[in-house]
Amino acid sequence: MVIYTVTLHTGDRLSAGTYSHIYIKLRGTEAESEKKILNYIRWFWRGQKREFKIHCEASLGELISVKLYSKPFMGLVYDQWFCDKITINTPEGDEVLFPCYCWLDWDEKLYLRPAKASLVFQETNQIAQKQRMRHLEEQQKLFSWRVYAEDTPQVINCDTPLCLPPEVRFSFTKKTEFYFTAGTQLAALKLAGLADSRKSWESICQLEAIICENRSKTIEYCQEHWDKDDFFGYQFLNGLNPMMIQRCSTLPENFPVTDDMVKDTLRGSSLEQEMEKGNIFLSDYKMLDGLVGNVVSGRKQYLTAPLVLLYCNPEGMMKPIAIQLRQKPSKDNPIFLPTDSEADWKLAKIFVRNAEFGVHEVDFHLLRTHLLAEVFTVATLRNLPSSHPLHKLLFPHMRYTLQINIMARSRLISTDGVITMYAGVGGESLEELLKRATASLTYSALCLPDNISERGLETVPCYYYRDDGMILWNIINKFVAAFLSHYYQHDEDVQKDTELQRWISEIFTNGFLERHSSGIPSPFQTLKELIKFVTMVIFTASAQHAAVNSGQYDFGGWMPNYPTALRKPPPKKKGQTDERTILETLPDVGTTVNGMAVLKLLSNDSADHYPLGKFPENLYDEEVPCKLIEEFQKDLEELSDLIEKRNKKLELPYTYLSPKNVDNSVAI
Ligand code: FE2
Repeated sequence: MVIYTVTLHTGDRLSAGTYSHIYIKLRGTEAESEKKILNYIRWFWRGQKREFKIHCEASLGELISVKLYSKPFMGLVYDQWFCDKITINTPEGDEVLFPCYCWLDWDEKLYLRPAKASLVFQETNQIAQKQRMRHLEEQQKLFSWRVYAEDTPQVINCDTPLCLPPEVRFSFTKKTEFYFTAGTQLAALKLAGLADSRKSWESICQLEAIICENRSKTIEYCQEHWDKDDFFGYQFLNGLNPMMIQRCSTLPENFPVTDDMVKDTLRGSSLEQEMEKGNIFLSDYKMLDGLVGNVVSGRKQYLTAPLVLLYCNPEGMMKPIAIQLRQKPSKDNPIFLPTDSEADWKLAKIFVRNAEFGVHEVDFHLLRTHLLAEVFTVATLRNLPSSHPLHKLLFPHMRYTLQINIMARSRLISTDGVITMYAGVGGESLEELLKRATASLTYSALCLPDNISERGLETVPCYYYRDDGMILWNIINKFVAAFLSHYYQHDEDVQKDTELQRWISEIFTNGFLERHSSGIPSPFQTLKELIKFVTMVIFTASAQHAAVNSGQYDFGGWMPNYPTALRKPPPKKKGQTDERTILETLPDVGTTVNGMAVLKLLSNDSADHYPLGKFPENLYDEEVPCKLIEEFQKDLEELSDLIEKRNKKLELPYTYLSPKNVDNSVAI
């Protein structure tokens, strides 16, 4: 007779304990244990550690898996149980860790694998091989793809977060769902009474009243500077969307800016000279061209596809020098200049900020972070078993992503969703924009170093998104390289990992719709390719999402800086705009406060969130990954300190990419 000592760790989180009966069965290379009930009389309490003895006639051999399942107490009382991990002390004197970190519902089964990571071809035991295969087959039934909209990345086939299988449920609760409504946010902002008002604002100053209880340092800064050229230019580098601007060496043919128009702002220099020096930049919203504005509260809204020319002046300030609001040049489509009347120039900038809302939310936020993170998550759950090193590496970066995306689809961009109801780019135009953005998405655009050099922004001063992002990219890359090199010794290991190759193949097919022009490497040939791709996956889910997500209320809370919808078409002539035209164009009171509520909701901290590099789950019992995680955390702490020091010198600190403010995953 031999004895296995099993220690069970119930999670320390709300409702983690259970009254249900929990059964366990151990599987080894030689035999399996009898089924044993663990809590016949005593229940499991939250945060509790309990030890049990399992007697077997002989050694089970090397432990391969632990099966857990639950039955209602007395056949009547059942509830979920959250198990953190199980450790087993074997008769041979080994201690084997089985990470769990998920909910077990009644009548559900969980198969846990030992913490030691392994690749499919390293699995020599036939039973373990079969279990690995069977587990993936079950995963593929649980997590399936579905088309959300034609020609856009596919999504998880699930309509409510509570229908998700137990292993991705974490501590996601109904309470979290409750907070994910604009109505709740409107109440929190104390603006519910204004939500249905169709009135125009009487003055810009009147907006002061709705932010008085909901202000932050950045909102105050926006309020004071929203119509200043310096701040308008600054936001192309360090605002909500620091990804649009690019160096301009030749003017687009459809943007006929002349030297005469810009001679004052270029201080006597010419466009050609400044382009040669690399001081001219462009932000072109052609992706919005031809899209029809949404109908908000029964009234048509207007979208434009502007072109903005910017000049990085000798003081290092990025200044707008010309704006054309529609793509096709004509006499009805004037080029607005800072030398025009104050109202003309201000309204032109407002149209650009509204175009920015559409492109930022749909392309840079929804597609490039939320939907891609969902693609990576579903592909991981379907193709990489929990014992695969890449599954372990990506595990913290998948937290809540499916839940939050399911809720965004059902509450924000559904037919009665708040974005559909209150954004200029909502409904059909949102779907079309998403399609266009998917068609033009490239791998290099997702890899920060390539993206910066493609846009020619290597040397622009005061580009904190780039400065912090590049250090962060390199820290993630260093960690990923060391981690994956520990498991993949040679390129051949990458090539013969059939699970990994299926993973990238599904990402290529279901996420990038088999577009070879996207540049996505499928299949992987080398370890170097794999390291770069995984760096991109982690960077996208953590840093890039933080950069485009966390400041939404900061920059958008002051509505004129980020209007969600515009009620009048762009002006066709100069000199016909005054303060009243601006107020009639900006969103009405109800649209403003509903827009604020959504931005507030999207900027909130996610429930139960963890900053980049803080991994609450104990997934490893090997020395190398544990040491690498420690080094990763140290590098991230150093970067947080560096950013904090730099920010002390800035009028408007750039905090979004400080690792302590970056979540591990797309979770809000
Ligand atoms: Fe987000």
